[in-house]
Amino acid sequence: MSSGFDKIAPFYGVFESFLFGSKLQEMRCAYLDQLADRRDILLIGEGTGLFLEKLLQVNPKANITVVEQSAEMMKRSRNRVAEKDSSRATFHKVALQEFDSVKRFDAVCTFFFWDCFEQSQLRAMLPILSKYTKGESLWVDVDFFEMQEGAPLTKWWHFMLIRVLYGFFGLATGIEARQVVEIEPLAKQNGFFVAASHRSEKFPIRARIFQKRNRARGL
Ligand SMILES: C[S@@+](CC[C@H](N)C(=O)[O-])C[C@H]1O[C@@H](n2cnc3c(N)ncnc32)[C@H](O)[C@@H]1O
Repeated sequence: MSSGFDKIAPFYGVFESFLFGSKLQEMRCAYLDQLADRRDILLIGEGTGLFLEKLLQVNPKANITVVEQSAEMMKRSRNRVAEKDSSRATFHKVALQEFDSVKRFDAVCTFFFWDCFEQSQLRAMLPILSKYTKGESLWVDVDFFEMQEGAPLTKWWHFMLIRVLYGFFGLATGIEARQVVEIEPLAKQNGFFVAASHRSEKFPIRARIFQKRNRARGL
C-alpha cells in the first residue's frame, strides 16, 4: 500500500532546510552520544535517513532496524547507507502497527513521528513501542510541542508555525492529526518516565529521553 509520505519524499529535505535550516537535525542529534554504545537500535518512521546516516558514523557497532511505512522515504534512507555498513542496517517497509519482531532493542528513536497521529491512534501505538524495549532501553523522542506558556508573541508564532505545518502535511500526506498530542501521559501509562529533556530556543521542538521506571541507569 502506498503512503501519503511517498509524494513528499523527494522534497522533504529541501522543505526541512528551507523552513528550519539545520535545526531539526541538531535536535535529532541532541542525545546522539547516548546511543554511541547501544547494540540494537530501532528507528521508527525514520523518513529520509538523515539521522540513520549520522548514527551509523557515531556508533560503528550497532545493528539498526528501520521501520518505515513509506517506500519512497525508505529508498532515500537506504541510499544514505555506505556499502561497508549495509549489513548493519535492516529496513522494514511496514507501518509500526504491523511490524512484528521477536527482538527487544537497546534503544528506540522516534523523530517527528508521533505528531502525525491523533490521541486514539497513539493510545494503540505506544504499547507497541513499549513491547520492543527492555529494562534498560532508551527511547529518544524529538518532536514539536504545543506551547502552553511563554511570551505571547512567541506563543503566537509557534502556534501559527504548527498550524501551517499541519495544513501542509494534512493536504500533502492525508494525515488527520491537527495538533500535537502530548505523549508523556501515554508514555507513563506504558511504564516510561522522562529521564532528560531539551528544548530548542527558536522552535517549538523538544528532545526527550524516556526510560522505564525503576530500571533507569545513570545518563
Ligand atoms: C513527519 S515524517 C518524519 C520523518 C523523520 N523521522 C524526520 O525526523 O524527519 C514521519 C515519518 O513517519 C513515517 N510514518 C508515518 N506513519 C507511519 C507508521 N504508522 N509506521 C511507520 N512509519 C510511519 C512517514 O512515512 C514519515 O517518513
